[in-house]
Amino acid sequence: MRLDKYMSAAGVLSRKECAAAVKRGRILVDGIPAAKADIQVQPGQAVTLDGVPVIYREYTYIMMHKPRGVVSATDDPGERTVLDLLPEQLRRLNLFPCGRLDKNTTGFVLLTSDGVLSHRVLAPKRHAEKVYRFTVKFPLSEDDVKTLEGGVSLSADSYAEEFLTAPCTVLPDEDRLGGRIVLTEGKYHQIKRMMEAVHNQITSLARISFCGIDLDPELQPGEWRYLTAEEEAQLKKCAE
Ligand code: URA
Repeated sequence: MRLDKYMSAAGVLSRKECAAAVKRGRILVDGIPAAKADIQVQPGQAVTLDGVPVIYREYTYIMMHKPRGVVSATDDPGERTVLDLLPEQLRRLNLFPCGRLDKNTTGFVLLTSDGVLSHRVLAPKRHAEKVYRFTVKFPLSEDDVKTLEGGVSLSADSYAEEFLTAPCTVLPDEDRLGGRIVLTEGKYHQIKRMMEAVHNQITSLARISFCGIDLDPELQPGEWRYLTAEEEAQLKKCAE
């Protein structure tokens, strides 16, 4: 692969920036300054920019802690998107959110360039687990929990058809004004609508785990990091 393509696929420099960096001797390949931006780089060669290793990734997998008020989209005419929270060079990698969280839902959004994997983990038949932390306006009764866990009928609205939710797990807090809910599907506004079906109202919602990968507690809202090798392996297992 050409060095400039390698650098842009790694999300480090655009092709133009790569040419300028080569001229300044900032890029070394196996310890030797790259002579031109179009030299070939083979897998296994050590590439550095300003002494920092540049790792080429065929696909990128990013864990983001989505803040409130940001939309899970690649672009939007009027709203800030999760892509807007990434540095410029990463926005060139054709990343997109794998699944959506509502504008006011916070928590784990996976951003990736891997369309096949994304399609697989979102396929209803894979039942990928998503765990949410929620708070509600009124205390949840035991009956509410049983109803939610057994499956509730969500009424049709302008965005979605009538739908019977699959069995799920609800773990209420002691005060019953919040808890965790584990879903294996992801319909439009699902949890919000499920709570409305038991005459309650969501007051906050955060996704804390996706496909068996927990949101990193070190990530503040708006922050992101690459998935670790273990998390990437777990994600791929989820897509099998
Ligand atoms: N359910 C919702 O109602 N909203 C989300 O963002 C995710 C699940």
